[in-house]
Amino acid sequence: MAAVKLLLLQEDITLGKEIKEFFSEQGNTVAWVSDHAAAQKWLDQEVFDALILDMGPDPQASILLVDYAKKVNSFGLGICLAEPSTVEAALKAMNLGADAYIKKPFQMEELRITLDRLLEYRSVVGANFYLRRTQDIIYRFDDVIGDSPALKKVLDMVRKVAVSNATVLIEGETGTGKELIAGALHYNSQRREKPFIKVNCAALQDTLLESELFGHERGAFTSADKQRVGRFEQANFGTIFLDEIADMSASTQAKVLRVLQEQEFERVGGTKTIKVDVRVISATNKDLQGEILSKRFRDDLYYRLNVVQLYIPPLRERQEDILPLARYFLRRFGGELSKKVTGFTDGAEYLLTRYGWPGNIRELRNAVERAILLSETDSVRAEDLSLSGQVRTESVPRADADGVSDDGLKLLDMEKKLVLEALDRNNWVQKEAARYLGISRRVMHYKIQKFGIRNPNWVKNK
Ligand SMILES: Nc1ncnc2c1ncn2[C@@H]1O[C@H](COP(=O)(O)OP(=O)(O)OP(=O)(O)O)[C@@H](O)[C@H]1O
Ligand SMILES: [Mg+2]
Repeated sequence: MAAVKLLLLQEDITLGKEIKEFFSEQGNTVAWVSDHAAAQKWLDQEVFDALILDMGPDPQASILLVDYAKKVNSFGLGICLAEPSTVEAALKAMNLGADAYIKKPFQMEELRITLDRLLEYRSVVGANFYLRRTQDIIYRFDDVIGDSPALKKVLDMVRKVAVSNATVLIEGETGTGKELIAGALHYNSQRREKPFIKVNCAALQDTLLESELFGHERGAFTSADKQRVGRFEQANFGTIFLDEIADMSASTQAKVLRVLQEQEFERVGGTKTIKVDVRVISATNKDLQGEILSKRFRDDLYYRLNVVQLYIPPLRERQEDILPLARYFLRRFGGELSKKVTGFTDGAEYLLTRYGWPGNIRELRNAVERAILLSETDSVRAEDLSLSGQVRTESVPRADADGVSDDGLKLLDMEKKLVLEALDRNNWVQKEAARYLGISRRVMHYKIQKFGIRNPNWVKNK
């Protein structure tokens, strides 16, 4: 036990001395008082790890003291010492937040063990509390960036269904924010204090996935040398997020279906039926309807998972979100990489909004992070973004099966268009166009040569 700070209330001089000496000898700090008023004064002045108090001749005052101690420091522990006649008062104190009571007479070791256990428990609870706090921050709605009508529709739905226990299926291309939305659902539900457990169903095969989800008994298969508690059990009273569900085998699908129907399952290799209360949120970037048609996915499971359906549209269909997201990532990574990059050149913004973003928000995030690293000025330029995929010419084309817009152009064509547009917007003054794109005059000249761009005005002027 690490050294702790204790407040001891003990009227009995002999016992008080004994307890104080016992804990002091182990390196702890012990403040010993013999009446309630003095104890309260200490509580007002210092933060103790634990209050050890005898219910004493005035048990009512001791109950009130426990209540007071919990109010001034809810993380402090309370241990009551009770005679047979004051056990009832000790139980009352426990109702008000005391953590344990010990019947007199007791051995010092008994008190030490009780305190040790409670301190350990408190540190676990504390860590958990901290984790939840930081996770809450990650999943606050404010951190879901974008105000396109399409995203707003999704968020409205998230708000509506978060509080219910409804099973939710989130569909959308890779990188559109499915995991982010799953987190928002959990952390805005009544289960937010309970576990949020994620399982990527594509990462594990058959038996391994089943053992991950449902656990296994010792000896269930060759490598199962220990019993294992599965993710569904860990998620009890909370939420399980099944990612990439299209990749589950037929046998796993059957078991998940049973959990959804009966809230029960057996561990792999086990016979005991385990009951759970778990909310299921699942996600996929595959076309589940297609998987059903080709008999790779059970339709009855699909209907169970799909009680509420959330579709997150790809970034190219919510163009309004691109720049707010890009600026958000710029602020975030600019700070992290401690680079003074304050914005995007017009050329970069133009490219950002016209690019097709097949990898969606994740790709945008990576592009911005990379651009900050490459950028040598305080604005990210088009070429810093080094986008190598395909770009779109005009607004919102429909996506084909690969998630790449069908009127996409090669990057070179895009670049030429950008140069043309820049020239056009700047009355064909090369210097201005270069500044517009955030490139040097020399590079502008080079690009004009490369693309063989000509303008009637230039000829006329000669
Ligand atoms: N609206 C948003 N605002 C801020 N960040 C977002 C938003 N949407 C997604 N992101 C970020 O983009 C990245 C990708 O999101 P996420 O992992 O949730 O996508 P996904 O749909 O689960 O992708 P995959 O199918 O590849 O697993 C994450 O870093 C996430 O935080
Ligand atoms: Mg994901």
